[in-house]
Amino acid sequence: MSQPKIAALIVAAGSGTRAGGALPKQYQQLAGKPMLAHSAQTLVNHPAISNVLVVISSEHEDLYTLDVPYSHGGKERQDSVRLGLEALAKHAPDYVLIHDAARPFLSTTVIDNIVAALGNDAVIPALSVADTIRTRDGATIDRNTLLRIQTPQAFPFAKILELHQKNKIAATDDAELWLQAGGKIVYVEGEERNRKMTTAEDMRMPITKIGMGYDVHKLIDGDAIILGGVKIPHTKKLEGHSDADVVLHAIVDAILGALGEGDIGVHFPPSDTKWKGADSAKFVEHVRDLLAQKHATLNHLDVTIICEAPKITPHREAMRTRIAQLLGTDISAISVKATTTEGLGFTGRGEGIAAQAVATVSIA
Ligand code: CTP
Ligand code: MG
Repeated sequence: MSQPKIAALIVAAGSGTRAGGALPKQYQQLAGKPMLAHSAQTLVNHPAISNVLVVISSEHEDLYTLDVPYSHGGKERQDSVRLGLEALAKHAPDYVLIHDAARPFLSTTVIDNIVAALGNDAVIPALSVADTIRTRDGATIDRNTLLRIQTPQAFPFAKILELHQKNKIAATDDAELWLQAGGKIVYVEGEERNRKMTTAEDMRMPITKIGMGYDVHKLIDGDAIILGGVKIPHTKKLEGHSDADVVLHAIVDAILGALGEGDIGVHFPPSDTKWKGADSAKFVEHVRDLLAQKHATLNHLDVTIICEAPKITPHREAMRTRIAQLLGTDISAISVKATTTEGLGFTGRGEGIAAQAVATVSIA
């Protein structure tokens, strides 16, 4: 067989009830699109696969929006697989990869490895077990004897179709039918990311949000300014209600922005005399606590200070250290940059200092 014809069948006709939610799990949004769109994408785009068929429930017609052919499934998973294989038969493929829609993060590598191993045997992706496995009766099972079986599972098409038409045993995967009929299996390496989504917890993906902050304070006569929590001797100082640390203020606004929590003025009203001359470190500690409350993690913070003077470079590391300390992060997550505006505008004339910050936050 020089160029075998390979088809893929995606079974998506389940009720997806254990995951909860308003829609069946395969139609729920996951990392920006419905789970089923992820599950189909890698198979549809794979050059070795010539036909993809999705098996859906007749009750989910209205939910199906993919530009991929579909047919209807049955009561149990096995019924859906059998019906799907029968619908694929007109294309007379040599092999079929049977995949669960509930595994949306299948990679091209797994498909490559399966395709490379196709022959007379079934080809099944599997992972070893790292946890200790024990029965409820207290018997410990040697984990080295165990495999975690994934999909897609690949079979010679005519043979697996025949097995599904002949056998009505209850099985949670197709390899079980194959084994019962005395078939051999070649295992290829599965992937953790190819895990099956079953519960609402499985469906919860961390999302990354971005926030930006901007602040300006006026320069007036003085002897030092505070930037990024660091006191820098200077011929001027920054004027403001608090200590006027534009850098920390921009950082606070960036983090509040990523959290969708308004701005610094909402949390620390300038009208409140409590914040007169306040150390802006307090504001940063407040957003650090907000991050924790919302189960959010600050991934990275990038700050740009815009001024002609003072020179920022000699103080950059001290600022990064102080900011990291206030936020409880590693210094590698904090970037401080500076630029002049070539003498142009209010910063160029030395009338004030501006700061911008961009924060990326991941929310579990
Ligand atoms: N499946 C199917 N037809 C069925 C039952 C299940 O096509 N009658 C599919 C599911 O859509 C899923 C895969 O088989 O992609 C594995 O099933 P499972 O993870 O149990 O999904 P559901 O049966 O949909 O979920 P639940 O058991 O929580 O209702
Ligand atoms: Mg099920």
